[in-house]
Amino acid sequence: MFLNKLKLNNFRNYESCEVAFPGNKILLVGKNAQGKTNLLEAMHYLATLSSFRAGNDSELIKWGEEYCLIEADVSKYGVDIELKILINPPKQKVLKINGLKKSSFSAFLGNLLIVNFSVSDLLLLRGSPSDRRRWLDDAISQVYPAYKERLNKYNRVKTQRNNLLKDFKGNINLSSNQEKLLQVLDEQLSVAGSNIVHLRSKYLKEIQQKAYEKHKNISLSDEELKIIYQSATTGDFRAAEDAIPKPEELLERFQEMFKQKQIEEIARGQTVIGPHRDDVGFMINGKNAVSFASQGQQRTVVLALKLSEIDLIEEIVRESPVLLLDDVLAELDDQRQEFLLKSIKETTQTIITTTSISAFSDEYLRDKKIYKIDSGSVIGGLINEKAYL
Ligand SMILES: Nc1ncnc2c1ncn2[C@@H]1O[C@H](COP(=O)(O)OP(=O)(O)OP(=O)(O)O)[C@@H](O)[C@H]1O
Ligand SMILES: [Mg+2]
Repeated sequence: MFLNKLKLNNFRNYESCEVAFPGNKILLVGKNAQGKTNLLEAMHYLATLSSFRAGNDSELIKWGEEYCLIEADVSKYGVDIELKILINPPKQKVLKINGLKKSSFSAFLGNLLIVNFSVSDLLLLRGSPSDRRRWLDDAISQVYPAYKERLNKYNRVKTQRNNLLKDFKGNINLSSNQEKLLQVLDEQLSVAGSNIVHLRSKYLKEIQQKAYEKHKNISLSDEELKIIYQSATTGDFRAAEDAIPKPEELLERFQEMFKQKQIEEIARGQTVIGPHRDDVGFMINGKNAVSFASQGQQRTVVLALKLSEIDLIEEIVRESPVLLLDDVLAELDDQRQEFLLKSIKETTQTIITTTSISAFSDEYLRDKKIYKIDSGSVIGGLINEKAYL
């Protein structure tokens, strides 16, 4: 799979920009705050319909403007596809493939697949549960496009349910009408929630098998990586050992928990259980890597996860994703950097950002296409002379 061209209007600090990505290995060079990550964010948005850093879509629009456009020419299975996204809040975003409007996210997703590996990913284990949920949700949406819709449905019903719980004003003696309303929302939330937990467990089981081996290879040791989906609602799922829980089993558990938590939820005026509270845990030789592993060990876990994401996409979709490496190489030590670069296939389109080209050897640069990014523009064509940068 290739991203052949990207065109932006009013996206972050880009007023208007069109850039072609010929070849498999692209390097984006620029000083801090010039727009390197913004370019990758646009690519990530095309692949997941969400940003890895914006809280909402309006943040993506250039300050002072009302809309933004993200367009791309991609090729998948050798077929050229034009993708277009118009973000114009408060209207719904418009999604088009080859000029035809798509009414659902799932009809749009899956045409560009990417694996994004940035400096902030290296902090995945140290980050918050919401960072880990975002990683997981983005990764799953690409390989199972229907997942994104389920997640949106879940979030919509949760908001309605929170509003209803707030309306009760802490009074646990519900009228029969209130009880009926709550029951309807409980049922809808349980169905959406159990589907989400089912797919998260399925994905983590697949990642576990791949990441376990990679982790051993990178760490050059017998360290055993085990991933756990941690849920106060449905219980922990140990991806290495447990069978993937069926949606029907999870549904029962949701319903039980809603009963158990009803008084607390009314008192707090919010939904306190469900996948929006869940987390992913990582164990190395049976110990929690978040609290015990060194920074280097944590980086090894993230590197193993990212390389596994690539393999999993290749296995499910039978196409290599586009790999985005945002400033990450400079943060890895020589051994991990070498492992990463060796693991990337020649045919995998890889887009790398860096602030300093001097970190790369002439030999490495020889077959790369290099662009300079400066104040929201991609400077004139390809620049392959170090001196010019
Ligand atoms: N909505 C927006 N409108 C206009 N400018 C924006 C918007 N959002 C972010 N920016 C600006 O975009 C600039 C470039 O951001 P970006 O994160 O892409 O930089 P970068 O080249 O990746 O830098 P670094 O090397 O520090 O990671 C920042 O100065 C930021 O203030
Ligand atoms: Mg950046």
